Amino acid sequence: MICENLSVSKDGILFFGGADTTEMIKKYGSPLYLMDEVRIRHNCRIYVDSMKKYFGENAMPLLASKANSFKQIYRIANEEGMGTDVVSSGELYTAKCAGFPLEKAYFHSNNKTDADISYGIDCGIGYFVADNEEEICVIDRIAKEKGIIQKILIRLTPGIDPHTYEAVATGKVDSKFGSAIITGEAERVFNIALSKENIDLCGFHCHVGSQVFDSDVYIAAAETMLSFVADMKNKYGFITKELNLGGGYGVRYTENDPVIDIPANIKLVSETLNEICKKLGIDLPAIRMEPGRSIVADAGLTLYTAGSVKRIPEYKNYVSVDGGMPDNPRYALYKSEYTVVCANKMNENCDFLCSVVGRCCESGDILQENIYLPSSVERGDIIAVLTTGAYNYSMASNYNRIPRLPIIMVDGKRDYVAVKRETFEDIVRNDI
Ligand code: LLP
Repeated sequence: MICENLSVSKDGILFFGGADTTEMIKKYGSPLYLMDEVRIRHNCRIYVDSMKKYFGENAMPLLASKANSFKQIYRIANEEGMGTDVVSSGELYTAKCAGFPLEKAYFHSNNKTDADISYGIDCGIGYFVADNEEEICVIDRIAKEKGIIQKILIRLTPGIDPHTYEAVATGKVDSKFGSAIITGEAERVFNIALSKENIDLCGFHCHVGSQVFDSDVYIAAAETMLSFVADMKNKYGFITKELNLGGGYGVRYTENDPVIDIPANIKLVSETLNEICKKLGIDLPAIRMEPGRSIVADAGLTLYTAGSVKRIPEYKNYVSVDGGMPDNPRYALYKSEYTVVCANKMNENCDFLCSVVGRCCESGDILQENIYLPSSVERGDIIAVLTTGAYNYSMASNYNRIPRLPIIMVDGKRDYVAVKRETFEDIVRNDI
């Protein structure tokens, strides 16, 4: 199994976080997202413990809200000693409603509106991660109006290609995010920030990409960032308090994805960073990372019920389920791979080549193509798509006016509703 919180009973039922997946469907209806609180906590602890151990007590991982944002996730992340990053007022509002201490929150986005900035300040957000000059000026202006000094980091682009898919390669010079070091823009923006009375510049941020397995990427990015930190110290006497290295490590969607030892990688990165700092004659700033996927992905799966099974001899077979691209658009968007199983027939041979498709009126509504399920797969079987805890609920839509799925949480002792299933009334709530 791709994750250790999955197991199979003698009679071939898939268990997740100790819960019988078929019982969850009976109790809460179909389809649903199932999340494992114990696994979320385990994943948080890996980052919290190893970052503090290797980067020092002032290091802190931030939960990247975009991977999955709902109230309970902030409660869990806070209890585990994480901060959070938000990229919109909606994510910020969710964290606030959950009682998350917002002094540990960082407001990202390449285009914060005046309203976002104003709302962030009113909420007492810890930091804005300012994307560019214009934003720094607006933060300064609104902070002045509200009579406060606002802490910020500046987002820089270190120009590293993470060798992942282009859509998430955000650390390159031609990115819509941040200010490039190599073009001199970073230094210019830095000077603007320093000149602003209502801005307290605390440090710098970069993010090189998502689903990254290789520490070389972090090391290369950190090396460029630390050289910049040293330059700003040498030229302007500026002491960088915080360095944020962006998103976390990759996860295993299928058996083909590598198993990654995160503490060992963080140790490696910390050793290299300490060496670089020594060479450059600077202190290591307080390190932040913003893992999203590796906190929540394998702590979630989606359970569907199979409907029509269509066999087109010599062409293709389809297993249709009662969800699809509205609850998981990642195959449609990125051709993302997933492991798909028949949760009530785990002991049967998987020799039926098929595509698992959703219920939307669109041929691109595919969850996974060319996978193997038991040949007995039929209407009423429970189909599980594994590792869907990240970028599924957070990217879900109501396409075809399909209500969004509930999130059911299990914690080893009990199961509870963390997010209710949407109703048809919810669907028309804003219609006049
Ligand atoms: N910090 C920043 C500034 C980011 O842009 C991201 C991801 C993260 C942190 C979290 O990275 P993670 O630890 O999750 O790899 N929708 C795409 C993913 C887009 C990620 C963009 N930024 C997907 O479904 O794969």
